[in-house]
Amino acid sequence: MTTPVHVTITGAAGQIGYQLLFRIASGQLLGPEAPIVLRLLEIEPAMKALEGVVMELDDCAYPLLADVESTSDLGHAFTNTSWALLVGSVPRKAGMERSDLLSVNGGIFKPQGQAIAANAASDVRILVVGNPCNTNCLIARSNAAEIPADRWFAMTRLDQNRAESQIAKKVGTGVAGVKNLAIWGNHSSTQFPDFSNATVDGRSVVSAVNDDAWLRGDFLTTVQKRGAAVLEARGASSAASAANAAIDTVVSLTTPTPDDDCVSVAVSSDGETYDVPAGLTFGFPVQADGKGAWKVKSGFTLDEFAKEKIKITTDELLGERDDVAKLSLI
Ligand code: NAD
Ligand code: LMR
Repeated sequence: MTTPVHVTITGAAGQIGYQLLFRIASGQLLGPEAPIVLRLLEIEPAMKALEGVVMELDDCAYPLLADVESTSDLGHAFTNTSWALLVGSVPRKAGMERSDLLSVNGGIFKPQGQAIAANAASDVRILVVGNPCNTNCLIARSNAAEIPADRWFAMTRLDQNRAESQIAKKVGTGVAGVKNLAIWGNHSSTQFPDFSNATVDGRSVVSAVNDDAWLRGDFLTTVQKRGAAVLEARGASSAASAANAAIDTVVSLTTPTPDDDCVSVAVSSDGETYDVPAGLTFGFPVQADGKGAWKVKSGFTLDEFAKEKIKITTDELLGERDDVAKLSLI
C-alpha cells in the first residue's frame, strides 16, 4: 500500500467537520489513489461528540482510510501532517460581522501555527477556514516562520462558488461555463467579487449579463452578504457549502489550473503584485501548476470601480492586522 497522507482537521466535531470528514475519507480531497490518516483535533468538551463521529467513520468502511487519530493535543494533531485544514473556532451569530470574532478566535491560531511548525511534515500546506480566516491565517503563519509563506491559504473559494452560481443563474447557463472569477481581499462583506475579468461560456460576464447596475449592485452585495443570509435563514452558519469549498480549494491547488481560469484563494501578498501591501493574507486569482506550486495570475484589468473596492477590503485587512498586533498575536 502507498504510504498514507496525514490530513489534520481542527474542530472536527463541528458542523463543517461533519460535512468534511466523510468526503475526505472517501477520497474526494486527494483522489482515489491516496490512502489517508485523519488527525482530528477538538477541545476537551467536544471529545465525546468526536468519538461518535469516529464511530461513524469506522462504520463507513472507507478503503482509503488507513487510520484515525482523535486528540485534543496540538502536537499530536499536527504530527507528520501534509494538509492542515484549520476549521475549529467559533462561528458568528446573527448580527455579528466576521471580524467581531477576531478577539474570540485569534488566540486559537497562534499556538496552532507554532504546533504546525514543530510537528508537521516538511511538505505541509495549510488552509484556514475558521473566521476571520484571512487574519487567522496571518496569525498562524506569523508564528511558524520555518514554513514558507506560499504554503498558507485562507478560504475565499466559497465566495467564488457563490459568485459563479449567481452569474450562471442570471445568464441562464450552467455554472461550469463561468470562469476566471476572482475574489479580491478579505472573506468578509468588503470582499470584491470581480465580475469584470470573469467570462461565461467564453464571453465576458459584463457583456453576457448586460446589466451593469445589477453587477455593481445586487450581484456584489448578494455575494458579500451571502454568509449572513445563510446564517439568518438556517440559524447557523454555512457548513455543507463551506466544506465543499474547502475540498474545492485543495483540489484546485493540487491540479493544474486551465489558462482561461483561476482559483480564488487568499495567499500571502508579496507587496508587489497588484500593489497589495506585503504580508497580508489577501484574496487573489491564483493559478496552480498541479505539482504543488502556484502563482498569482497576472493580467487582470482593474478599473476605477475595482480599485476603489479593493482599497476598501485592503484597508479592512490592514485594520485587522493592527488589531492582532495589539493583541500580540503576530
Ligand atoms: P461549529 O461551532 O459547528 O464547530 C466548530 C468546532 O470547533 C467545535 O466543535 C468546537 O469544539 C471546535 N473548536 C473550538 N475551538 C477549538 C480549538 N481551539 N481547537 C480545535 N477545535 C476547536 O462551527 P462551524 O460551523 O464548523 O464553523 C467553524 C468556523 O468556520 C467558524 O469560524 C465559521 O465562521 C467558519 N466558516 C468559514 C467559512 C469560510 O468561507 N471561510 C465558511 C463557513 C464557516
Ligand atoms: C460564510 O461565508 O458563510 C462563513 O464565513 C460564515 C459566516 O459567518 O458568514
